[in-house]
Amino acid sequence: MNEEVNAVITCVGGYVPDYVLTNGELSEIVDTTDEWIMTRIGIKERRILKEKNSGTSVMGTKAVEDLFKKTDTKPEDIELVICTTTTPDYFFPSTAALIATNTGMKNAFAFDMEAACSGFLFGLETASSYIKSGRYKKIILVSGDKLSSVTNYSDRATCPIFGDGAGAVLVEPTSEKLGVLDSRLYTDAGGFPYLHIKYGGSAYPATEESIKSNGTTIYQEGKAVFKFAVTNMSDASELVMKRNGLTKDDIDWMVPHQANIRIIDAVANRMDFDRNKVMVNIQKFGNTSAGTIPLCLWEWEDKLKKGDNLILTAFGGGFTWGALYLKWAYNGKSK
Ligand code: UT7
Repeated sequence: MNEEVNAVITCVGGYVPDYVLTNGELSEIVDTTDEWIMTRIGIKERRILKEKNSGTSVMGTKAVEDLFKKTDTKPEDIELVICTTTTPDYFFPSTAALIATNTGMKNAFAFDMEAACSGFLFGLETASSYIKSGRYKKIILVSGDKLSSVTNYSDRATCPIFGDGAGAVLVEPTSEKLGVLDSRLYTDAGGFPYLHIKYGGSAYPATEESIKSNGTTIYQEGKAVFKFAVTNMSDASELVMKRNGLTKDDIDWMVPHQANIRIIDAVANRMDFDRNKVMVNIQKFGNTSAGTIPLCLWEWEDKLKKGDNLILTAFGGGFTWGALYLKWAYNGKSK
C-alpha cells in the first residue's frame, strides 16, 4: 500500500494596503459613529487599496512576494497557483495567472476559484486534494479581496464592514499526520436573496441604471446573514471536531472568518470555546472576505507550533460555509 500523503502549509505570506480607513473618516461619509461600529461590528479601521487601476492581483502579488522571502522554495519550483477571490481584476485573465506571472512562477498553471468569504477553506481543500493525488508537490494558494471595489459607500449598514487584503500559503506534501486532516464544506445558492451582487455578470450585465442604483455593489440582509453565519460556522466546526475525536480542549486555535466580532463571539459561546484561543484581528483589517483566515495565520505564525490543532471556519456569500481541521506543521516563523 502507498504511504499516506497529507498536505501541509509550510509558509505564510500576507499583505494589507497602507491606506487606513478609520471609523472617523467613515462617519464623514455616512451617518454613523465609531461607537456604533465598535459595538455592533467590532471594527476600528480597515485597509483600502487606493492606487488607481489596482486590483486584487496587486495585493496577491505582494502577499506571494512576502511568502517567497520566508522560504527556500523558488517561484519556478511552484507547479500550481490557486487564487480564491470574489473580486478578480478582470473576467479574464484570471487573477491567479496575473499573480503567477508577476512573481515569476513560470512553471505553474494557475486558476481562480470563487467561494466568497469561504474561499480560503475551499481553496485549501482543493490544494490538499492535488497534493494527496501525488502528482503535485508545491502549490501556492492566494486568497484575498478588494471589497472596496464592490462596496456601496452610501449604505451605512454594509460599508463599515469591508476592507482589502490578501494572504498566501505554500502547500506541500508530508508523510506525517499533519496538515489538512479533514474538512466539511457546504454550498447553498438558496442564500442568494440575502447576500449578492446582482449586476455586472453574464445574467445582468452592468447598465448605466444598475450602476447608478448601486446594483454592482454588495447587497446584504445583515440580520439574516448573521444568524446563518453563527449557526452554520459552529455546527460545521462541531461536526469536524466530533468526527476526529476532538473536544474543545484539544483545539489550540480557532480561526474564524472575520465578519463581525459578535458573530465570532457567538460562535465561541455556542461551542463553549475559550475566547483566548480564537484568532481575532477584525478590529484592524475588517472583513477582507477570502483574505481573513490567511491574514490571521500570517499574524499568528510566530505563535504557532508543530502539532497545534487548528479549526478554520467560515461563512459567506453563496451561501458557502464550512470548517477545516488543520494540524500545524512547523514552529514559529517559517524562516
Ligand atoms: O462576510 C460575509 C457574511 N456577512 C456577515 O457575516 C455580516 C452579518 N451581519 C452583520 O454583521 C450585521 O447584521 C450588520 C453589521 C450588517 C448590521 O448590524 P445589525 O445589528 O444587524 O443592525 P441592523 O442592520 O439591524 O440595524 C440596526 C439599527 C437600524 O436602526 P433602527 O432601524 O433600529 O432605527 C439601522 O438603521 O442600526 C442602524 N444602523 C446604523 N446606525 C449607525 C445600521 N448601520 C448603522 C451604522 N451606524 N453604520
